[in-house]
Amino acid sequence: MIRDTLLTRKTIRKYSGKPVDEKLLNEILLKGCRASTTGNMQVYSIVITRDDAKKKELAPFHFNQKMITEAPVVLTFCADFNRFNKWCLERDAEPGYDNFLSFFTAAIDALLVAQTVCIAAEDDGLGICYLGTTTYMAHKIIEALNLPKGVVPVTTVTLGWPAEKPEQPDRLPLEAVIHHEVYKDYNTKDIDMLYHEKEARVDSKQFIKENGKETLAQVFTDVRYKKTDNVYFSQILLQVLKDQGFMNQ
Ligand SMILES: Cc1cc2nc3c(=O)[nH]c(=O)nc-3n(C[C@H](O)[C@H](O)[C@H](O)COP(=O)(O)O)c2cc1C
Repeated sequence: MIRDTLLTRKTIRKYSGKPVDEKLLNEILLKGCRASTTGNMQVYSIVITRDDAKKKELAPFHFNQKMITEAPVVLTFCADFNRFNKWCLERDAEPGYDNFLSFFTAAIDALLVAQTVCIAAEDDGLGICYLGTTTYMAHKIIEALNLPKGVVPVTTVTLGWPAEKPEQPDRLPLEAVIHHEVYKDYNTKDIDMLYHEKEARVDSKQFIKENGKETLAQVFTDVRYKKTDNVYFSQILLQVLKDQGFMNQ
């Protein structure tokens, strides 16, 4: 049942050797492509990687996260105006999609299809893991996957039959992310209350210790998602958007 699938799901990073059947994958992709899409333009593409040599080639661009080579299927979801632009030009229509808004539109489409594919896969008992490294190393992935101008990889998902049963990670209470009618900003007391449970967890305390930090937030700011890295990879991504023809205005 979809309710159970959604409420019990968790990211899977270890996969059994059992292959993912072509027919099953097609069915999952068919479901994924029913996701809402801007103006029904479907400005996305999905590159399927099953070949071990190709996975090995991609691995360093995902900072050698083991899921890339161990998962039977790797899916790279791309923002793609290339196909749509070509269709327009073939049909005496002038495309106006060489700008940042169009990139963002295509990226939204790509992420919606990615998440719908993930839900469909998880509902069939498969395990998935997103790889955020895609946006860090988009320039390298573009080369490895032969992505033409107008195409930018926005996320990668590894897919396979689960070979682990991890604990389900925590979430903030619903009230932390929900606002009624208008946005209600958070004061110090709200932040203390909303993050209390997360900070009190044994695994959070362990995480702080392992990283030699004093607070959980510092593990994010000083170790996992540092400003220096964010600025460095932002510059690369902005260059990718220019090179792929999305910043011509
Ligand atoms: C956009 C995005 C990028 C992610 N990148 C990675 C990644 O590079 N490596 C990884 O192991 N997990 C990655 N994840 C998985 C998250 O770590 C995971 O969803 C989060 O810890 C919550 O766990 P859960 O999905 O089991 O609830 C990513 C998730 C998202 C949505």
